[in-house]
Amino acid sequence: MHEKVLVTREIPETGLRILEPFDTAVLHERPPERDELLEAVRGVSGVLSTATENMDGEVMDAAGENLKVIANMAVGYDNVDVEAAGERGVLVTNTPGVLDETTADVAFMLLLAAARRLGEGERLLRAGRWAWWGPKQLMGRDVWGKRLGIVGFGRIGQAVARRARGFGMEILYHNRSRKEEAERELGARYMDLDALLGAADFVSIHTPLTPETTHLIGADELDNMKPEAVLVNTSRGPVVDEAALAEALAEQRIFAAGFDVYENEPEVHPKLLELENVVLAPHIGSASIETRDKMATLAAENLAAVLRGESPKTPVQG
Ligand code: NAP
Ligand code: GLV
Repeated sequence: MHEKVLVTREIPETGLRILEPFDTAVLHERPPERDELLEAVRGVSGVLSTATENMDGEVMDAAGENLKVIANMAVGYDNVDVEAAGERGVLVTNTPGVLDETTADVAFMLLLAAARRLGEGERLLRAGRWAWWGPKQLMGRDVWGKRLGIVGFGRIGQAVARRARGFGMEILYHNRSRKEEAERELGARYMDLDALLGAADFVSIHTPLTPETTHLIGADELDNMKPEAVLVNTSRGPVVDEAALAEALAEQRIFAAGFDVYENEPEVHPKLLELENVVLAPHIGSASIETRDKMATLAAENLAAVLRGESPKTPVQG
């Protein structure tokens, strides 16, 4: 089996071992430049990509007619032109299910850190500016017993709801389809988006990035939120209008935010970088050793299955 395979980034060994039967080239730790990617894909039968590569029709054409599969090492696949892949007979796979709990941990971590002003406190302490314990110092907002609104009630959204139950939170959700079983299991209440934004003390976003969810949260939606509310985003950056968010935070129209994803990664809106009331993580939702091993394994298994003529475990199409 000497089909050529390209792995666009350095990935955990668990994945590379599965690709040993193939003629596998691994690019580097950093994301490839566009020209580099177009050159490196020439003649490959499979690409194991990550969310940083724009896998569009041009890349598929540069690969040529041998290309059979793009195995994205992420559950989100907004970076892959699935329609272009379908037109070229290329299968696309992703890594759903193996990262739900790990990503939900990060959403909840950001929620707690933003509510309790952890980033601000740590910056104060590290700068040597923590002079005393103060009765009115760094007072945040309680999380326990509050109302959490989850936008996008799929695998990760529901994993966040399970955590929230442990904090005695009331759970509201908005999703494009009703999730009645999860409603019963998690005691969650369905609401339309406007009603949820107006009622929730915390809003956590877990939709995929699609044309419908681009700027789902903009200036109007932020205005609709309570002034004491906290917004958390671990989905994809463009789901929130970052400029509108920065303004709302600067004017304290919402209390705080916790973000893992940005509109133009790795750039972050410069206004956000100046604000104290936002916790900023560098897209680490799934970044635990255990989960990255599982993602690399699943992506490589999917790729290998297609090249062997078998069905991949987690195809995106059909
Ligand atoms: P999922 O199970 O497919 O859940 C997504 C949910 O969003 C689904 O229930 C879906 O509804 C809902 N939805 C889709 N479009 C919507 C819309 N326009 N309005 C309201 N709800 C909508 O996906 P997941 O595994 O939970 O992952 C969610 C996203 O998280 C991924 O796509 C990825 O972008 C992001 N993510 C980020 C990180 C990170 O490192 N920060 C890690 C993992 C994932 P239906 O059930 O009706 O389809
Ligand atoms: C990470 O961002 C993913 O979509 O898996």
